Amino acid sequence: MSFPNKIILIGLMGAGKTTVGKMLARHLGMRFIDSDHEIERRTGVKIPVIFELEGEEGFRARETAVLAQLCQMDNVVLATGGGAVLREENRKNMKRSGAIVYLRAQISDLWHRTRHDKNRPLLQTADPHAKLRELFAQRDPIYRELADVIMDTGDQNIHYLVRRLEQKL
Ligand code: S3P
Repeated sequence: MSFPNKIILIGLMGAGKTTVGKMLARHLGMRFIDSDHEIERRTGVKIPVIFELEGEEGFRARETAVLAQLCQMDNVVLATGGGAVLREENRKNMKRSGAIVYLRAQISDLWHRTRHDKNRPLLQTADPHAKLRELFAQRDPIYRELADVIMDTGDQNIHYLVRRLEQKL
């Protein structure tokens, strides 16, 4: 089987999907697209504003519509929002369109990278650390189930990741 022409990164907020995705795309000569950035580009506002005006459901509807389109593109590395896997439609679209890589980080690393970030509306709660643990417990099984390759972020060496992908496909 040939190397996939689309690589889809999944994982929690702060796992490094955007950073790794950009490196991977550059390395493979592919285009990089981040679904959250695409939503922001189309709406002209930041994600927290969408949550404020339309609620999480409104955001999820936009995310689903954008992902359906992005999953049709070729020669891309696609970074998805952490909650994109929650909808079955998104899971199906991702599964049929490319190789799915789960970037799996420790809670302590996720917390370290997100705790001062005001751009993650789901973490704007009285106890964001507890929320992160809850999201991890809820989503880790979904990410694992969906992924073709699981990458612990401690192993985030781009050459290693590419080799793993090659071996896997
Ligand atoms: C979300 C993750 C965010 C963004 C939105 C909701 C989530 O993306 O889509 O705030 O449900 O985990 P990142 O994973 O890129 O931070």
